[in-house]
Amino acid sequence: MEIIILDTEEELARLAADAIVRRVQRSPDLVLGLATGSTPLPLYRDLAQRHAAGVNFSSVRGFALDEYVGLPPEHTQSYAHYIAENVTGPLGLRPELVHLPDGNADDLEEAARRYEHAIRASGGVDVQILGIGANGHIGFNEPGSSLLSRTRIKTLTSKTRHDNARFFTSLDDVPSHCLTQGLGTILDARTAFLFAFGGHKAEAVARAVEGPVSASCPASVLQLHQHAVFFVDRAAAAQLRRSDYYQETWAAKPAWQLL
Ligand code: PGA
Repeated sequence: MEIIILDTEEELARLAADAIVRRVQRSPDLVLGLATGSTPLPLYRDLAQRHAAGVNFSSVRGFALDEYVGLPPEHTQSYAHYIAENVTGPLGLRPELVHLPDGNADDLEEAARRYEHAIRASGGVDVQILGIGANGHIGFNEPGSSLLSRTRIKTLTSKTRHDNARFFTSLDDVPSHCLTQGLGTILDARTAFLFAFGGHKAEAVARAVEGPVSASCPASVLQLHQHAVFFVDRAAAAQLRRSDYYQETWAAKPAWQLL
């Protein structure tokens, strides 16, 4: 794992955007795994600026991490709406190349299987973008999720529903179920970029990076990933015991060793 600790979200986003643009220039049909929530927004804004400055993302393919069950795609809090507003449009992706699990399918288990199949058929995710919940979830893999789980239906914890209630009119409007890529699905990505900003994420980051690998902190499964990079600001890094070492490593990183 590589842990990058910098002062601002914008600096961290710029580094990750540099790495993504470099890959797109090498492989125009790169496959991005797309997280939602507030955390990836600085990265999407940075990539949108690159697009405005002439970088061509039109062959890039995308797979969202998750979607609520029962929200129509046009609902402003659906992840289909989020991805269209924050990613597909601003980055100039082609909508037909950007996929989400179908949270409105009659047969949700079949929709989950179809999603796994579509990811595999694409050749797999090259760069999986991730946030982290205050409870250590990635995607909607809540604590207790199997470390080898695949895309499936999950019940949201009341903590997650409360955390997300700020986007809805009331807590009762927050769906109780979702379809989410599993932890095993996320582990299959070639590279994982996890972002965490703010002191309310510090405990989850410390458990993910330095705690035991455990379903009790789903993000800790990234300790088993071959190339996981954590982009954290100083507040989110505050509970890391080895933060001096991570910063020395970053300062001494050889120029040829790219993210
Ligand atoms: P946030 O959510 O980016 O809105 O903090 C992160 C997550 O729950 O994965």
